[in-house]
Amino acid sequence: MNKQLSVGLIGCGDVALCYYLPALKESKYVNLLAVCDLNRERAELVAKAFSVPKIYTDYKEMLKDKSIEAVVNLTPNTFHFQINRDVLASGRHLYTEKLMADNVEEATILVDEATKQGVKLASAPSVMLDPINIAVKKIIEAGVIGKISYVTSHNCHGGPASRGYFDSYKSLIASSGLLNWEEISTDPTWFYKKGSWGAMADLGVYGFAALTGILGPVKRLSAISGTSYDTVTVMGGTAKGKKIEVETDDCTLMVIDFGNGVFASVDSAWTVQATKSPTMEIYGSKGTITVSWTDAGSELEVYIDQIAENLNGWLRPSLADQTPWNLASGIDHFAKCVLYDEKLLIGGEHARHVVEIVQGAEVSSREGRTIELKTSF
Ligand SMILES: NC(=O)c1ccc[n+]([C@@H]2O[C@H](COP(=O)([O-])OP(=O)(O)OC[C@H]3O[C@@H](n4cnc5c(N)ncnc54)[C@H](O)[C@@H]3O)[C@@H](O)[C@H]2O)c1
Repeated sequence: MNKQLSVGLIGCGDVALCYYLPALKESKYVNLLAVCDLNRERAELVAKAFSVPKIYTDYKEMLKDKSIEAVVNLTPNTFHFQINRDVLASGRHLYTEKLMADNVEEATILVDEATKQGVKLASAPSVMLDPINIAVKKIIEAGVIGKISYVTSHNCHGGPASRGYFDSYKSLIASSGLLNWEEISTDPTWFYKKGSWGAMADLGVYGFAALTGILGPVKRLSAISGTSYDTVTVMGGTAKGKKIEVETDDCTLMVIDFGNGVFASVDSAWTVQATKSPTMEIYGSKGTITVSWTDAGSELEVYIDQIAENLNGWLRPSLADQTPWNLASGIDHFAKCVLYDEKLLIGGEHARHVVEIVQGAEVSSREGRTIELKTSF
């Protein structure tokens, strides 16, 4: 029998129901001991559906429970820093949804607190655990596509109030057969309000975490960012029909310099109803790597110039690791790293660099200047 980490989860919303609760229950490394949500009824429904023994409505009460060794924070972004700091200060290991804090200064407080307490700090998005991104990194390091010049990264959908968003959550919840979507869906208003960091924190982070995981830390960046749609209408769930005033940036376009003549263009947008653009394309002196996230899973193709004389072409590498990645794939890794004291691949310093990219883009757009990044990982 493997050792198991006793976990308490805070925030029983969409991402918890569709991804984390199933992952926590299935993980051989985790014993899900408690769930906490401000909404008691919601916490009770979730605890019943996923057979979780303890329920809390106040996370500070949950932290008094000595049997909890680690916490997973899935609350809305504006609560992350305060809850994360309290969790770490209580000596618990922490896995938090992104962004782990609102700015670099707060992120540094979390990194330092984790070090002081001797606990692990992990943050979503766990994209560098995706076998495709691991393969991309290996292909580049092996020199297969030569010297990298630039990368494009698209991070967009129709936004948390859109039809596509609700349809995907509805079908995921329905497929679990555990809960009634009409009863349990949440109101997405908070995503559009000041302090949430908008589309960058919701979508751009996947690109920022993947690009920096593959290419290393960003040296400088420049951004144009703003609000394209003043209002949106919620297209599904319990808040269906509600009009929301958009107070945050729903469209951000960035250019990034990784140093050594490696550049990237990265978008983050809630204004895209559909796209056929690849999620990420990497251009090198000897070839191209293209990655697409589709509903059917991710696809990886590599174009190699001069495979042999008069022979060029697109190849589809077969991955040794076929494990499908999803939003909660970091859970197993986190629990295993805590239990066996292994190094996290989604640690706090990388997450802090991602926070600095988001913060830097906002400052760059507002002040009309290029931002030099200070953190690394
Ligand atoms: N929904 C997504 O597609 C998605 C995907 C990836 C990551 N995330 C991230 O996951 C986090 C949660 O997103 P979501 O969509 O599940 O949000 P949600 O609004 O559906 O759920 C949040 C839940 O947290 C609860 N909550 C709020 N403050 C709390 C507090 N102080 N203590 C306890 N419970 C509290 C709310 O009652 C609600 O049930 C966010 O950081 C989001 O960026 C969401």
